[in-house]
Amino acid sequence: MLRHNHLLAAACAVALCGPAAAAPAAKPAWMDAKLTPDRRAELVLAKMSLDDQIALLHGDFPTLMGAKRPAGVQVSAGWFPGVPRLGVPPLYESDASLGVANARRGPKDDATALPSGLALAATWDEQAAFAGGAMIGMQARQKGFNVLLAGGTNLIREPRNGRNFEYLSEDPLLSGRIAGASIRGIQSNHIISTTKHYLANDQETGRMVASVEIDPAALRESDLLAFEIAIEEGQPGSVMCSYNRIGGTYACEHPAMLNGVLKGDWGWKGFVMSDWGAVHSVDAAVAGLDQESGQQLDKQVFFDAPLKAAVKGGKVPAARVHDMAHRVLRAMFAEGLFDHPVVPGGLDTAADGAVAQRAAEGGIVLLKNERGVLPLAAAARKIVVIGGRADVGVMSGGGSSQVMPVGSQTFPAPKGAPSWGGGVVFHPSAPLAAIKARAQGRLGGEVVFNDGSDPAAAAAAAKGADVVLVFADQWASEGMDVSLTLSDNQDALVAAVAAANPNTVVVLQTGAPVLAPWAGQVPAIVEAWYPGSRGGEAIARVLFGEVDAQGRLPVSFPASLGQLPRPELPGAKDFVVEGLANVAPMKPFDIRYDEGSDVGYRWFAKTGSAPLFPFGRGLSYTSFRYSGLKVAGGRTLVASFTVTNTGKRPGVDTPQVYLTDLAGRKQQRLIGWSKVALKPGESRTVTVSADPRLTASWDEAGHGWRVAAGTYSVFVGADAASPSLRGEARLAAARLKP
Ligand code: BGC
Repeated sequence: MLRHNHLLAAACAVALCGPAAAAPAAKPAWMDAKLTPDRRAELVLAKMSLDDQIALLHGDFPTLMGAKRPAGVQVSAGWFPGVPRLGVPPLYESDASLGVANARRGPKDDATALPSGLALAATWDEQAAFAGGAMIGMQARQKGFNVLLAGGTNLIREPRNGRNFEYLSEDPLLSGRIAGASIRGIQSNHIISTTKHYLANDQETGRMVASVEIDPAALRESDLLAFEIAIEEGQPGSVMCSYNRIGGTYACEHPAMLNGVLKGDWGWKGFVMSDWGAVHSVDAAVAGLDQESGQQLDKQVFFDAPLKAAVKGGKVPAARVHDMAHRVLRAMFAEGLFDHPVVPGGLDTAADGAVAQRAAEGGIVLLKNERGVLPLAAAARKIVVIGGRADVGVMSGGGSSQVMPVGSQTFPAPKGAPSWGGGVVFHPSAPLAAIKARAQGRLGGEVVFNDGSDPAAAAAAAKGADVVLVFADQWASEGMDVSLTLSDNQDALVAAVAAANPNTVVVLQTGAPVLAPWAGQVPAIVEAWYPGSRGGEAIARVLFGEVDAQGRLPVSFPASLGQLPRPELPGAKDFVVEGLANVAPMKPFDIRYDEGSDVGYRWFAKTGSAPLFPFGRGLSYTSFRYSGLKVAGGRTLVASFTVTNTGKRPGVDTPQVYLTDLAGRKQQRLIGWSKVALKPGESRTVTVSADPRLTASWDEAGHGWRVAAGTYSVFVGADAASPSLRGEARLAAARLKP
C-alpha cells in the first residue's frame, strides 16, 4: 500500500536520496533482493566489525538529544544511525499504535488518528484492522519513519489499565487476530512494526517495578497466546519487551520468555527491542534482548561500551552479539528497509481520514436501545446535546501514543496524570457539528448544546426535547490507571438529565469499560471509545442510522468492582501515578493473577455473575436469528450455522462461537466468529473452525498443547452470555507443538 511513495521512490533512485540508492555498479552483494533476508544479513555482517554490530544495538531517544540531535533526525521516539559506510540505513522510529504520534510537534501535525485499539477490536474485522495498519504505516513512511512502535497486544486483564485504549481485547484470539492484521497492514509499507509490550504489562501502576505472578500454563493460554497469534499472523520485525517483571525477572531480561518461548518455541526470527528505560544490565543480551531503545533513560547505555567489554571479557559470547545484529538486519531486509528507503511527503489526509472513519463506524457499539430511540428519526425535531466537549471534538488517550491531527485542542490533565503527558487532547471532529449538519441541515430540526458542567442546568435544557444526547467521557493515559467510575460528577449529570427527559441517549467516549449506575434509567447507550480523527462524523452516522450499529464489545463491562478478580487495583495505595520520571522511589510489589486464563468473560462464566454488558454484546438496528447448528469434531471443532436478518433494515451481525466444556474442563472460550452483512430476510450459512490451541490445554510438564479425547460443548450466541444454539462433538486426543 504505497499510494504515493512508489512515485517518489522512483524519483529518489535517480536522485540518489537514500543509502540504498547507490550506483548499480557499486551494488553490494547484500543488495540482491533475490537472496533470503538471512543470507543478506550474513553478507553485510561479514563486513562488520564488533563496533559496527554494536552500533545497531543501542539507540537514542531523539526527544532527549537536545543540541546533539543531528539534522534530519526528527524529535521522535527512536533513532539508530545505521552503518553509513555499508549503506545500512538508520532506523527512524515513531510511536505508536493509533497513528504516527508526534505530540511534541503540537496541533499542527498532519497525522491521522485511528480510533483506539478497543474500537478497532470492536469491529471484529481483520480487514478493517489491516486497512488501519496500512494507513498509519503509510503515514509513517510519508513522515520519514521506517519503524512504527505499534502493535499493542496486551490482554485487557485489568479494566482499570490506563493503556487499555492502546490494546484490543480481553480475549487472546480476538486480540491476536486483530493485532496480527494490523501489523501486516503496517508492514505492507516496507517498514517494521513491533508488537508490544511483551509481556503481562497489564496495568500501568508500578509498571517499572511490579512482578506479575501467574501459573505458567495459564500464561500460555492467555497473555502469551494473544502474542503468539499476533506474531504468527503479523510476523512483526520486532517485539518490544515491557517494563514489568514476571516471576521476579524483568521482562527485558527474561530468558524463559525471550529465548525460550518467543525465539525458541515460536521460532520467531525478528529482534527484541526494549521499552524505553527497561534495560537493567548487560545480561539482558544473554537472556534474549537484542536492542536497547531510548538509551538515555537507562542507568547506563548497557549495549554500548559495557556490552563490548562483556564480549572482550567472555561474559557475553561474540556469537550472541552477531546474532543480535543479524536479527536487526534480517528484519530490515525482510521488511524492505534496504530496498524501499523511506521518502517523506505525499500525505493525503482526506483519504486517510476516510479509513479512520470507517474503522470508527465499525467499532461503535450500541449497548442498549429501547423503544427504538435510535436511530434518530426525522421525528426528533428538537435535539439537545449535552457535555463531553461535543462542541470541540472527540476525546483521545494520552501518553506516547498521542496523535495530534491538525486542529486538536488540549485541555489540562486531571490531577495525578503523569507530568510528562501533554494534557487531554480532543481531536477536531466535533460530534455537535456532525449532528447539526444532519438534524438541522437535512431534517430541518433544532439542535441545542449545553456543556454539562451544571447537572441542574443541563436537566432544565433537556426538558421537552424530543431526544437528548449526553456525551460522557473518561480520559485515560499511559503512566496511570483509571477509575471505572466516570469522573467529574458525570454519573450525576446523566441521572439528572435522564430524570428530566425519558428519551436520553448516553454516548460514551472511554478508554476501557466504565461503571454505569444510570444504565437502567436511560433507553439507549452507545460506546464510541476514542473514535479518532473523524470520530464526530462516525458517531453521527451511527446515531442517524446511516450505517448499522455494528460494533461488538471486545471487553466485558462489569456491574461493580466487586465482580472483578481484584476489586482493588494492585499497588494502588502506594503508587497512584507512575511515569518514567519517578522510577527510583518505587518499592517492588507483586501482582497476582490468580484468575489464571479466566480473564474477562471467562471469569464471569466461572463465578456465575452477570456483568452489566457482556463481552461480545452489541445491538444492530435490525434483528437476527441463528439456526441449524452443526458441529463436527475429529481433529478440531468446526461449527456451521445459518444467520438470518429477521428485521426490516439491512444490517451487520457478528455471531460468536464459544466453547463451554473441553472434555470435562469447564471453561468458556471464544473459538471464532463470523461478521456478516445481510439484507432484510436474507440468510447465510457460515462456518467457524477452532484454532486447535483453543480446544487444548497447555501441559507444562510435557511442554506442549494437549487436546484431551472427549466431548466438547459449544454454543452460538450474539454475545458471551447469550447462548442461542448449543451443540457438541468429540475430539481425538492430540499433542500440538508449542
Ligand atoms: C512506552 C512505549 C513507547 C516508548 C517510546 C514507552 O514509555 O511504554 O510504548 O513505544 O515509550 O515512546
